[in-house]
Amino acid sequence: APVAVVIPAAGRGVRLGPGAPKALRTLNGTPMLVHAVRAMAASRAVSLVVVVAPPDGAGEVTSLLDAHALPERTRFLVVPGGESRQESVRLGLDAVPPGHDVVLVHDAARPLVPVETVDAVIGAVREGAAAVVPALPLADTVKEVEPAAVAGAPEPVLATPDRSRLRAVQTPQGFDRATLVRAHETVTDDVTDDASMVEQLGEPVVAVPGHEEAFKVTRPLDLVLAEAVLARRRL
Ligand code: CTP
Ligand code: MG
Repeated sequence: APVAVVIPAAGRGVRLGPGAPKALRTLNGTPMLVHAVRAMAASRAVSLVVVVAPPDGAGEVTSLLDAHALPERTRFLVVPGGESRQESVRLGLDAVPPGHDVVLVHDAARPLVPVETVDAVIGAVREGAAAVVPALPLADTVKEVEPAAVAGAPEPVLATPDRSRLRAVQTPQGFDRATLVRAHETVTDDVTDDASMVEQLGEPVVAVPGHEEAFKVTRPLDLVLAEAVLARRRL
């Protein structure tokens, strides 16, 4: 079954600080979004990439992708995004033509995910999982706190969950298309990833090994790390 990837890229990147929308910021001279599209197109299973662009940036994104060579087998579409990541993903999903029974959702803000991770997620969906997330063990101990009303004020610690049972979750997340469509039709709560919507349907979600290089570019220090990873790859 052919695989389509929806890439939400419509965020502003507030935590990165002032500048262009995050997906259009460059890493070693190439826009983050182009790195992310190439990372998906690196998988031979991927036949379509739907990029969800900043609402006023669809034209610019189309020109960018036309200007950067993608493999012959990979088609792309560009649609304008929405107010939230969830809305942007739904708009991208609406643009996936029939026939793509496996859909991946991948953050433009994770431009360096290796193809082995992409293929592992696709493999698990093809073997029958309705929803698959790449995940890593945590390096830090995690505390549950009572959030302070004022930022920076001390926060009472309530609990320390057993770290060995926790995972940090990445993208691409992979889905049986019908399940993901139903999740987006049904779940209206605010969520931070797509798999949690499938969890809310009561459907099983499985985790496969993620990768360090699939980290999300969120804050300025992440740009330094991303450019160092690219330099190590000599890109
Ligand atoms: N995203 C989107 N549409 C939105 C908000 C986010 O498509 N309305 C996308 C971002 O472009 C990014 C991914 O969702 O690729 C993950 O979101 P995040 O890392 O939070 O990016 P931003 O929302 O852009 O960053 P910030 O939260 O710092 O503003
Ligand atoms: Mg955000």
